[in-house]
Amino acid sequence: MNFPFVLPTKILMESGVSSKVGEHLKELGIHRVLVVTDPGIKAAGLLTPIYASLEQAGVAFFETDQVKPNPRSEDCNRIAVQYKNTGIEGLVAVGGGSAIDAAKAVAVLMTHEGRIEDYEGENTLKCNPLPLVAIPTTAGTGSEVTFFSVITDTARQYKMSLLDVRLAPTLALLDSELTAKLPRSIAAATGMDALTHAIEAYTGKMSNPISDALALHAIRLISKYLVAAVEERDNNEAREQMLIASLIAGMAFGNADIASVHCISEAIGGMYDTSHGVANSIFLPFVFQHNCDADIYRHSQVAICLGVDPSLSEHDAANAAVDKLFSMIRRLGIPKFSELASVKEGDLTAA
Ligand SMILES: [Fe+2]
Repeated sequence: MNFPFVLPTKILMESGVSSKVGEHLKELGIHRVLVVTDPGIKAAGLLTPIYASLEQAGVAFFETDQVKPNPRSEDCNRIAVQYKNTGIEGLVAVGGGSAIDAAKAVAVLMTHEGRIEDYEGENTLKCNPLPLVAIPTTAGTGSEVTFFSVITDTARQYKMSLLDVRLAPTLALLDSELTAKLPRSIAAATGMDALTHAIEAYTGKMSNPISDALALHAIRLISKYLVAAVEERDNNEAREQMLIASLIAGMAFGNADIASVHCISEAIGGMYDTSHGVANSIFLPFVFQHNCDADIYRHSQVAICLGVDPSLSEHDAANAAVDKLFSMIRRLGIPKFSELASVKEGDLTAA
C-alpha cells in the first residue's frame, strides 16, 4: 500500500475560540489582516467579538463583506486589487465555504500577479499565498482544512477549482457558538454537504486507510446529530459534533477527493447558482444507488454507519441506506430537483 496524507492546518476547537483570534494572529506574527465575510454573517453580529479581539490584540484590520454564495471570480479579483497595497500580512475568513474559498483565492492574488482564473487547476501557484485563519460558521464545507478553492467563473458559467497544498488555511478556529444562529435551511444543506464529502471520500477510488477512518466516523456523527442540530437550535452538543463531523469529512475528502455527486452539483451550480449543499443533497441518494454494485462492501459499510441494521446482507443494507438518505433529505426539507425554479430540461445536455 502506498498513499500520502497531508494536513497542513493547525486546528483549535473550543467554544468561544473565535473571540481569541487576535491572540492567535499575534502568535503567527500577523499584525494587519483583511477579514473576508458576507453580509449575513455581519447582520447576525458574529463579527463583533472577533473585531473586539483584533482591537485588543492590536491587530489592524480591513473588512470585505461582499462574498456571495458560490463565490465569483470577478469579486475575488476586485477585492484583491482593492487591498493589494494595504500592507496586509494575512486574511481571516469568517463564514461558510463561500467566504473561506473566496479568502483562499484572495490570499493567492495578494502574492501573485493576474486574475484568479490564471491559477485554475492543480499546483499552479508560484509561491505561498498570504496566511489564512479560517473561522467556519457552518458545519458542512470542511474548507477550513482543505487545499481546494472552488470559484465560479461567471463568464463561463463554470465552477473552477484551484488545488494546491499551499491553499490550506494556516489555522482553523472551530467555535460552536457561531453556528447557533445558522438558519435551518443552511444548517440542513451544509450538513448534507458534509455527509456527501464523507460518503464520496469513502466510496471513491482515491480512498486510503486514514481517510476511510475519518469518513466513516463523520458518517456516524452526521447520522446521529444532523437532524438534532437542524431542529434543536439550542442543542450545543449536536452543533459541536456536526462541526467535528464537517472537519474530519474535510480532512478525508481533502486526501481522497470527491466524486460524481460533486461533479454533477458543480455543473448545476455553475449554470443555475444552486446552493452547493442543496444540489449535493438532491443527487446523493441517486448516485449512491447507482454506484452500489461497483463496491457493495463499501456501500454496506456506509449503510451501517448511517444506522442501518448490520445483520442485513450487504446488498440489502446498501438498499436500506438509499431509503435512509431519501428520508433524511425529506425530513430536512431539501427541495426536489424538479422544484428548483430555474432548471430547464433542455439545459441538461449543456450542464
Ligand atoms: Fe462539498
